[in-house]
Amino acid sequence: MIGTVIRDDGVGSRHVFDRQTPTRVAEDYRQLRTNLQFLNVDDPPKVIMVASAMPAEGKTTAAINLGLALAEAGRQVTILDADLRRPRVTSYLGMVGGVGLTNILAGTAVMTDVMQPYADTGVSVIGAGPTPPNPSELLASKHMLALIDELRGKSEYVLIDAPPLLPVADSTGLAVMVDGILLSVRYGKSRKDQLEQAAATLERVGARTLGVILNIVPPKAGITAAYGYGYSYAETAPESKQRRGRRRAS
Ligand SMILES: Nc1ncnc2c1ncn2[C@@H]1O[C@H](COP(=O)(O)OP(=O)(O)O)[C@@H](O)[C@H]1O
Ligand SMILES: [Mg+2]
Repeated sequence: MIGTVIRDDGVGSRHVFDRQTPTRVAEDYRQLRTNLQFLNVDDPPKVIMVASAMPAEGKTTAAINLGLALAEAGRQVTILDADLRRPRVTSYLGMVGGVGLTNILAGTAVMTDVMQPYADTGVSVIGAGPTPPNPSELLASKHMLALIDELRGKSEYVLIDAPPLLPVADSTGLAVMVDGILLSVRYGKSRKDQLEQAAATLERVGARTLGVILNIVPPKAGITAAYGYGYSYAETAPESKQRRGRRRAS
């Protein structure tokens, strides 16, 4: 498990965490960012797919907010909506939909035509575009691989919002093109057998699962964040430095 995200009504309705007010959910996304940055430090994953076994397990919301948290730390991030049957990235962000990934794959647009900056956050967004009849084929195409390579050269992180793994085969072809996969699991809803099946599907195709996000956790569940909660070295360190300084001065 590389992160937990608490259920937050503001995020549930506005889809992005409030960057002004300190909240637990914002802290959770920042902790997820931190934990992600500690993975494989010698060969850190750049192109990351956010997947889940079934729909409505918090993938899109996690991809968007992890992207915002990375951008907040100065990283250049592109979010790509690859859930071609149920695209939500642009609508969640209140951006223009319409053209996007499927236009690039069909050759009717180039990347720069359809890439949009999200406010002044440092996050760029490529929406899904019009729904095609053959999402699985498009996502597993050489065009898709070429696009991922192009994005890799342009951004520090590429977060791909993927279709759910079990109902459709759309994301298995894509899974092997990315550096790693974050599996979103919804507290109290995702079933163990579904998660096992999703993980087995990814393993079978040789994809690399980075870890699990335990998502939309009710505050009452009493689950603390995966790492970092309850312990703060930061609070004591500056004080002891000060004390050392004083001691030296006296
Ligand atoms: N941390 C959260 N707190 C409250 N609601 C959330 C949270 N994350 C996601 N949701 C809500 O849960 C629902 C499913 O999330 P979504 O990101 O669309 O999932 P998926 O992309 O897996 O279908 C949406 O209505 C979304 O607003
Ligand atoms: Mg979604």
